[in-house]
Amino acid sequence: MFAGKTVWITGASSGIGEALAYEFSAAGAKLILSARRPDELSRVKEACLQLDGAEGMMVLPLDVTDERAISDATKVARSFTGRIDMLINNAGISQRALCVDTEMATYRKLFEVDVFGQIALTKAVLPIMLEQGSGHIAVTASVAGKVGVAQRTGYCAAKHAMMGFFDALRAEVAKDGLFVTTITPGFIRTNIAKYALKGDGSAFDQVDQNIAGGMDVTDCAKVILAGLHKGKKEIAVGQGREMKALWVKRFFPNLLFRMVEKMG
Ligand SMILES: NC(=O)c1ccc[n+]([C@@H]2O[C@H](COP(=O)([O-])OP(=O)(O)OC[C@H]3O[C@@H](n4cnc5c(N)ncnc54)[C@H](OP(=O)(O)O)[C@@H]3O)[C@@H](O)[C@H]2O)c1
Repeated sequence: MFAGKTVWITGASSGIGEALAYEFSAAGAKLILSARRPDELSRVKEACLQLDGAEGMMVLPLDVTDERAISDATKVARSFTGRIDMLINNAGISQRALCVDTEMATYRKLFEVDVFGQIALTKAVLPIMLEQGSGHIAVTASVAGKVGVAQRTGYCAAKHAMMGFFDALRAEVAKDGLFVTTITPGFIRTNIAKYALKGDGSAFDQVDQNIAGGMDVTDCAKVILAGLHKGKKEIAVGQGREMKALWVKRFFPNLLFRMVEKMG
């Protein structure tokens, strides 16, 4: 299903985005790899090219908080094959700080990357997909987009916002033949905690035991590809008790609130 398709992945220099690049590459997709660090993107590109079935590959460095760069990058991305069949809004940063310790500038930084970056890139790509009459937009939200937990007020708010934005977008574009998928990972073993923001906006740079004990990132990417292949509107992926929280929140919200209060 992905063979020959042009797939643009943000946050492709590490973690889930990198693992998705390998899976899409092995499936024969033509990839546009974006993130801020060109060296890391080139490393991922080289690794992709070693895989059987790897097709064309473009490294397109991009900071998703830079609106003008998004506009220019979208033109370059389209020139790669003339199409953009799938956009995976995966770039993101997390948070490790109590609300009382988190500066407003830090909240704004989280929202610039995790919310406005995804919206701006989606808005840039949307007219291309509408013109094509086809396309699939996905976002890596989080279980934190459905459940609020301590030390993540900004991150949970951002991911909740993304669930709302992309659910609403789906309602708008389904009639145009476009698909929208929200992805809600639980704890996945990546560098997310390392770069998470402390209250003053500096990097947490510590091991988070939940992340360290989380799902293998390749397994996560395989689940995501299978879900995208099926055209799922929502993909929940993870292996720990945080995945049960989705179910508890839905059917027993007060129980869930008590559980997360105890954890906090
Ligand atoms: N790991 C988990 O447990 C987990 C759970 C739920 C959701 N998620 C979500 O999954 C997504 C990927 O995270 P990950 O776990 O794979 O963490 P990661 O390894 O830290 O990857 C984050 C990616 O985002 C990119 N990025 C950060 N800021 C950016 C910016 N301003 N512009 C462009 N790219 C930017 C980073 O690349 P550069 O530094 O090169 O720009 C990197 O490629 C995030 O949206 C995260 O919130 C992760």
